[in-house]
Amino acid sequence: MELRPVGTTGIKVSVIGFGCWTMGGPNWSVANGQPIGWADVDEDDIVAGIKAGLDAGVNHWDNADIYGNGRAERLLASCLAKLGVARDSQVIATKVGHFKGTAPHAYDPAHIRNQCEQSLRNLRTDHIDIYYFHHGTYVGPGYDGRDHDYLHEAAATMHSLVKEGKVRAIGQSAYSDDDFERAVPVLRPHVLQNKANLRYGDFIRQGSRCRRLCEQHGCTFVAFGPLDQGILLDKFDPANPPAFEPGDYRANRKDFNAATLGHVRAALAQVRRRFGSTAALGTTDDTAFLSSIASRWVLSHPHVCSAIPGFRNARQASCNVRAAIDAPMSAADAAWLSDLFLA
Ligand SMILES: NC(=O)c1ccc[n+]([C@@H]2O[C@H](COP(=O)([O-])OP(=O)(O)OC[C@H]3O[C@@H](n4cnc5c(N)ncnc54)[C@H](OP(=O)(O)O)[C@@H]3O)[C@@H](O)[C@H]2O)c1
Repeated sequence: MELRPVGTTGIKVSVIGFGCWTMGGPNWSVANGQPIGWADVDEDDIVAGIKAGLDAGVNHWDNADIYGNGRAERLLASCLAKLGVARDSQVIATKVGHFKGTAPHAYDPAHIRNQCEQSLRNLRTDHIDIYYFHHGTYVGPGYDGRDHDYLHEAAATMHSLVKEGKVRAIGQSAYSDDDFERAVPVLRPHVLQNKANLRYGDFIRQGSRCRRLCEQHGCTFVAFGPLDQGILLDKFDPANPPAFEPGDYRANRKDFNAATLGHVRAALAQVRRRFGSTAALGTTDDTAFLSSIASRWVLSHPHVCSAIPGFRNARQASCNVRAAIDAPMSAADAAWLSDLFLA
C-alpha cells in the first residue's frame, strides 16, 4: 500500500489508516450525557478486521483515550498481540483532550502526563507514534475556577514528551480554522487532523485556510470521516432512516434524515453512471466501489497523508482498503466529484 509522510518526521503512514473509535463501543459524554460511542463491538470481528487491514498493508491506527474511555486502546493492543504483530511495523496514534478525568481541564499539564502514561499502558507500548491534542479549545476552567489559557504549557508538555522518547510525532486535531490557526504556531505539530469527505471539503480544498497552514508549517493532514459514518456508502434507506442504539454517536447526528439521505443517494446514482459498472474498478461489491470513490477523492488532495475510515469487521475492513488497491483518482474525476457534491 502507498505510504505518505507524517510532516517532516520521517514516519510514513499507509494512505488508508484504520480509525479505532468504533472499538470503544457505546459511551456517553460526562459533560452533557450525549452519546459519543458506537454500538458494541465483538473482539473476534475486530481481530479479523485488523488482519484484513494488515494483509492489505494498513500500518496506521488512529485511537484516543476517550474512545470507550481506554477500551479502544486496550482492544487494539490485545488484537495486535493476538496477531503477533511487531510493534515497530505499525504507526499508532492516540489523543488526549476530550477525557478530563478529575482535572479542571484536559490540557492541564499534569493531566496530559497522566493520560500519556495511561495510554502507553493501555497500548502496551513505550512510545506513541503520533500523539494528538484532540481539540483546539485551550481556554477553560483553571484550578482557581477562573478561565485559564493552557495552550503554551500544554505545548511545552507535548515537546517534553517528545524529548523523553514517549512521543514521536505531534498532532493537532481541531474543529475550526480559528482553532488551528491559534494552536499551530505555538504547538508546531507535524500533522493536523479533521473531517474531510465528499460532503465536507472545507479543510482540504485548495486555498483553504487549513491547507495553507499545512503548507506554511510543513504539516500533512489526516482525514477522518471519509465515508461520513456510512452515509457515502448508500447503506441507509431514505424512506426508512436508521435508528441507532443508545450510546451510538449517530443517534444525535442530524444528517441521518430522509432528505439528506435521499440527496446523497441521487448524487451516488450519478457517480455510478460516470464511473461505469463497479467491475470497472476491479470490484463487483457496490459498497467497496463507493468506499473506494469516497476515500480516493480525499486522497487526491496532496497534503492528505492518510484517510482513516472506521470498521467493525473483516467485511468493512476489506471494503475500506479498496481505495488503496484501485488506481489513484485522476484530477478530472476529482474535480467532477467536487462539483457534484460541494458546488
Ligand atoms: N479527531 C477527531 O475528533 C475525530 C472525530 C471523529 C473520528 N475520528 C477518527 O476517524 C475514525 C473514523 O471515524 P468516522 O467518523 O469517519 O466514522 P466512519 O468510519 O465513517 O464510521 C464508522 C461506521 O461506518 C460504518 N462503516 C464503515 N465502513 C463500512 C463499510 N465498508 N460498510 C458498511 N458500513 C461501514 C460502520 O457502521 P455500522 O456501525 O452501522 O456497521 C462503522 O461503525 C474514527 O475511528 C477515529 O479514529 C477522529
